[in-house]
Amino acid sequence: MQQNNRITSLFNIQYPLIQAGMIWASGWKLASGVSNEGGLGIIGAGSMYPEVLREHIQKCKKATQKPFAVNVPMLYPDLDKIMQIIIEEKVPIVFTSAGNPKTWTPILKENGIQVVHVVSSVKFALKAQEAGVDAVVAEGFEAGGHNGREETTTFTLIPMVAKEIEIPLIAAGGIATGKAMLAAMVLGADAVQIGTRFVASHEASSHLKFKQEVVKAKEGATQLTLKELAPVRLIKNKFFEDVQKLYQKGTTPEELKELLGRARAKKGMFEGDLEEGELEIGQIAGLIDKIQPAAEIVKEIITEFEAAKQEVAVL
Ligand SMILES: Cc1cc2nc3c(=O)[nH]c(=O)nc-3n(C[C@H](O)[C@H](O)[C@H](O)COP(=O)(O)O)c2cc1C
Repeated sequence: MQQNNRITSLFNIQYPLIQAGMIWASGWKLASGVSNEGGLGIIGAGSMYPEVLREHIQKCKKATQKPFAVNVPMLYPDLDKIMQIIIEEKVPIVFTSAGNPKTWTPILKENGIQVVHVVSSVKFALKAQEAGVDAVVAEGFEAGGHNGREETTTFTLIPMVAKEIEIPLIAAGGIATGKAMLAAMVLGADAVQIGTRFVASHEASSHLKFKQEVVKAKEGATQLTLKELAPVRLIKNKFFEDVQKLYQKGTTPEELKELLGRARAKKGMFEGDLEEGELEIGQIAGLIDKIQPAAEIVKEIITEFEAAKQEVAVL
């Protein structure tokens, strides 16, 4: 592994490999499992009530001596409480997403916390840099979960963002192997953030049925939808088809909101309702063929990354 990597030095971790913060998937077990193996584990606060988050942070601190982070989607209703807990519990690193980085970055940094913001375009990467974040995650159209409207793929987004910003860059979207990690780093990323592959881990808190659905998914199994509300990449299950039917007849954001209702994501990903629930996952699910321990995933990716470097050296 290369020395003096900007991300490994920034976070004080062994490998430039970050396990993404994910609602209904990344609790303390997954985050500490990845951090213990030398990557950076992230607790996804987006599906947690404030006191549940506190519990996850405290358990994570007991389960690992290594750095870990919390991801906070900033459209959260209890945002003030969430940030207060993060500060009180002395979480070393925060990944913010879905909001304006100007609001919280200065406050978190005053409290000695490193801040990373997730973006999906060059424009937002520059805004995040201006807001004073320590690094950005640039997430391509392939990624699981909520996404940008521009439909820029990881392969095109990374070199464009790398060209414009000074601060360290983390690539996300469609990366699940050591070869993809190397490709992203060749394109200008300092590290990678991986979501979908870690959903298919024993430690992910998602329902087993959802994990099995991820393993079953083939190329073309997902699509970005609900652009009028918040664009999200989903497995094409019954709920997705219901959304499509509304589009076909000509729909309004209000009607879409009503169909989406509350707790669709929980129903699908946490409770395992594969018909009626929302199943957020990335395009790269088509490549994933088993559920594994998180530590094994980290080891496999790093081993393949190192081997791929040797392979390309002879090209
Ligand atoms: C099930 C699931 C839930 C997610 N939840 C969040 C979230 O709460 N906050 C966030 O910033 N990103 C979320 N994401 C996006 C990931 O953090 C990550 O950037 C993305 O998964 C990377 O692309 P990949 O899935 O192709 O690896 C989620 C992704 C998935 C698959």
